[in-house]
Parts: sequence; structure tokens; C-alpha cells
Amino acid sequence: MSKVLIFGSNGLLGQSLVKKFEADNEVIASSIEKESFLPDFKGTYQPLDLTDRAATRDFIEQLQPDVIINAAAFTDVDGCEEQRELCWDVNVRSVEHIIEGAANLKTVFVHISTDYVFDGLSAPYSENDTPNPQGNYARSKMASENLVRNSELEYQIIRTQILFGTGRRVRFNFVTWVIDQLQKGNPIRVVSDQVGNPTYAPDCSEAIYRLLNKQAYGTFHVSGPDSLSRYDFALKIAKIFELDAGLIERISTEELDQKAPRPYNSTFVIDKLVNYAEWEPHTLDEALKLLREEMQI
Ligand SMILES: NC(=O)c1ccc[n+]([C@@H]2O[C@H](COP(=O)([O-])OP(=O)(O)OC[C@H]3O[C@@H](n4cnc5c(N)ncnc54)[C@H](OP(=O)(O)O)[C@@H]3O)[C@@H](O)[C@H]2O)c1
Repeated sequence: MSKVLIFGSNGLLGQSLVKKFEADNEVIASSIEKESFLPDFKGTYQPLDLTDRAATRDFIEQLQPDVIINAAAFTDVDGCEEQRELCWDVNVRSVEHIIEGAANLKTVFVHISTDYVFDGLSAPYSENDTPNPQGNYARSKMASENLVRNSELEYQIIRTQILFGTGRRVRFNFVTWVIDQLQKGNPIRVVSDQVGNPTYAPDCSEAIYRLLNKQAYGTFHVSGPDSLSRYDFALKIAKIFELDAGLIERISTEELDQKAPRPYNSTFVIDKLVNYAEWEPHTLDEALKLLREEMQI
């Protein structure tokens, strides 16, 4: 049994990580809010603002975790264009604080990153391809990766993308937003020129769990196996959740006028994950069916 410290434990991925790891590890969950959002969590919850350098360093030094998983981030991609300083504080400086705290410990550091480190012009992307981040969120995540890579710690950088799933008090993700809108009978406009691999959050947690058990370190692309456009993804969601696909209108990224640039196609090659973890994530159809069971709808 290892002592596993999970930052961002109240977020979408964080909640799923806590559920995965608590079965056979001592889990210390931590996020910025006063309380854990997981009502059945039996481990310790500690509120912490990772932008507080001294508090973060002291917390880690006292706790001496075997593993730190950092799923905390400023994840509002367009918000990062407006709140540049906050974006950098949370996504970059906080990572620096974690590394400082773990500097004298034998801690494995698992840091979550993103497909946005790529510009989306030459997919599919393997771990050996050269990043070219566009926008402030993407640059902040790239900078955080570099900090981890240049640290003395044993690390995993887990690049994931289009996370979906359910959790308590978590913000909408693409899937829960589509379901919510279609259930209400609202028409939605969805881009058909942004392509990537949707990733079921429990699959991402499972991948991290398995890679850690195999002591596989380095950078890994962790996503679902199916690559498709957001529009086709929305149609699939409508089909599996038996909702009205006629409400889904196809549009282009240009029409959306988003503040931050997005990679048009960030399809991942996940062979490295499959080889090292000796495991394959669910297909998109399987994952959506599992989510439907989980949501009981
Ligand atoms: N969601 C995606 O599609 C996606 C795709 C690629 C990569 N990723 C990466 O995957 C990771 C997890 O994403 P997610 O979707 O699970 O994110 P999320 O739901 O937004 O969760 C992030 C958590 O971090 C917390 N947090 C924010 N600032 C903090 C601070 N200063 N100190 C401590 N905690 C803080 C957030 O609290 P508040 O909610 O109160 O701010 C939230 O609970 C992130 O690294 C993200 O960049 C996500």
C-alpha cells in the first residue's frame, strides 16, 4: 500500500482518481475547496491552494507521499486568455511548488497535461512528436511539462484530451453538456472541424494506476482509441443516450469565435500506453454506455 497524494481531487479527473486509488492505497485528497466533494471518501481531505508556495512545500514535506498525482489546473481554456497571471500561477508556478516540496523525497510525480501542447496540424501525435502550443493555456501546460521533465523526480507526464465522465459538483464536460441540452430540447451548434480522441475519465485513472504499478515512467499519451469530430461525437452521444440528434447543428470553428486557439486535429497514437500498461481503454461506444449506467439515465 502506497501513500498517494492527489491534487485537484474535487475535479472531474481528480474524483475518478480518488475512487480508483483508494481501494488499495492510503489516499490523501486535496483541492482548493474547504471540503471534499466525494461524500463516501474514507481517506484524509486537506484543502490547499497550490499557488501558496510555502503551504504547498510544507504540506508535501510533512506528508512524505510515495506518489503525488497533480490533476489540479486552471482548465478554462478561454479564461486563460483573459486571466493570464492566474493561469500561469495555477498551471506553472504551482507545479514548481510541488516539485520543491518533493525535492528531498523519493516521490513519484504524476502530472496531467494535454493534447493542446500540439498545434493540431500534423496528427496523429505520438510522444516523440514536437509540441507547438498555441494560446496561453497550452503554453502554460507546456511550461509545466518542462518543469517536471527538468526536475530530479521520477515522473509520469500524462497527456490526455477531451475528458468526459460524471462527478459530484463538477462543471459540465462536452458529454454532460450535450446530454443536458438535448434533454431540455435545446438546439446546439457543434463544430465539425475539431477532431480528437474523447477520453472516459475512469479510463484515464485506470491507465495511470496501471502505469504506476508497472513503474513505467516518462511521457504517455492517454486517451480513448477512437478519433472523431466534435459533431460526430455529439451524434454518438445522442444515439447512445437516446436523445434527439435533429437538435444538433453542424458548424465550423470560425463560426464559434472562441478566444483561445484550439488544435484542429490532435488525434493521439496510444501504442505506448497499450504496450506499457498491457491494457486497452474502452472504445467510445463502450465508454458512453458505461457512463449511461453510471448516470442512471
Ligand atoms: N477536461 C479536459 O478535457 C482535459 C483535457 C486535457 C487535459 N486535461 C488536464 O487534466 C487535468 C484535470 O482536468 P479536469 O477536467 O479534471 O479539471 P477540473 O475539473 O477543472 O479540475 C481541476 C481542479 O483543480 C482545482 N484547482 C484550481 N486551482 C487550484 C489551486 N490553486 N489549488 C488547488 N486546486 C486548484 C479546481 O478547483 P476549482 O474548480 O474550484 O477551480 C478543480 O477542482 C488538468 O491538468 C487538465 O489540464 C483536461
